[in-house]
Amino acid sequence: MDLESVDIMYSEKEVADKVKELAATITRDYQGEELLVVGILKGAFIFMADLVRKIDLPLAVDFMSVSSYGSSTVSSGEVRINKDLDYSIKGKNVLIVEDIVDTGLTLNYIKGILQKREPKSIKICCLLDKPSRRKADISPEYIGYSIPDEFIVGYGLDYAEKYRNYPAVCILKKP
Ligand code: IMP
Ligand code: MG
Repeated sequence: MDLESVDIMYSEKEVADKVKELAATITRDYQGEELLVVGILKGAFIFMADLVRKIDLPLAVDFMSVSSYGSSTVSSGEVRINKDLDYSIKGKNVLIVEDIVDTGLTLNYIKGILQKREPKSIKICCLLDKPSRRKADISPEYIGYSIPDEFIVGYGLDYAEKYRNYPAVCILKKP
């Protein structure tokens, strides 16, 4: 791994503990209910895989893929659905899992679309939140870490499709 270009923000162990804590809260909040966990590809794939294995509830998973960032570190504000959900969410408890909420434009768009499909409930769980960058009125119910405005890679997050496989949450050093 090219560790020269990143600084570790949260270690693999710290992230694992945080994921366990989030999963315990979610398990408690949805007692007696079933969940449909919707992962936003590609960034959420690692977080979601770890999270669902710690949630002690009957659940199903589905995925959605949207494009927003391309290979730049600046939000274009443009969101497009590349892959929609496979199944209906009508009457289901939907938990959207996202890697990071930045401007909130992506999630605002996705939440709007999903809400029209009449789920029983809809909540958002993100590993990372950059509240200072918010442009849309989105507040995730479950947040791993609230962080300052840094560009993050690792644990599923990429820069130009690189670094997703780094096990820790890292800050990408300025080129
Ligand atoms: P938003 O629409 O501005 O909230 O952007 C959300 C999406 O942008 C996330 O799902 C990520 O894919 C990407 N993104 C935002 N900030 C970062 C970052 O610091 N590192 C990597 N990807 C990011
Ligand atoms: Mg993403």
